[in-house]
Amino acid sequence: MIGTGCAVNFATEHFHPATPVNIPINGFGPGHRIRIVGVPAPNARRFWVNLNTPTDTAFHFNPRFDERCVVRNNTRHTHWQHEERFADHFPFNHGHIFTIEFIAVGGHIEVFYNGRLFTRFAERDDPHHIRTVQVDGDVHVHSIHVSSN
Ligand code: GAL
Repeated sequence: MIGTGCAVNFATEHFHPATPVNIPINGFGPGHRIRIVGVPAPNARRFWVNLNTPTDTAFHFNPRFDERCVVRNNTRHTHWQHEERFADHFPFNHGHIFTIEFIAVGGHIEVFYNGRLFTRFAERDDPHHIRTVQVDGDVHVHSIHVSSN
């Protein structure tokens, strides 16, 4: 026996995937985490991270250098829903490495930028239906780490 608990931790890590990249996940409920390390292209206009169900995007996280905001949204029957845009600042910089983490806390997804809470997104659909993490747009992905416990 190792330790006193019975926790089982599943983790996968992918290095330098070409974009668009799709990483399989089996739901995104409490305890699930995704960590992405990347660098926006020197001339980046936009990139995005999508948590996708087989038919929709449950969470779209979309840094836009052209608007200096991070749009958050989902689709329902493939139609974009209400955008959330509010934030104190736009933390991304062209050519600067970042770490973003998505943490499922039950009802919300917390998003951390370089270790600091950046925003929360209230889940609009059942996160158990999420099956892929997708990253695309003007970004180089250094690594994607998915874990659950
Ligand atoms: C649209 C854009 C999509 C997505 C969406 C989010 O205008 O074309 O890529 O970002 O906004 O609401």
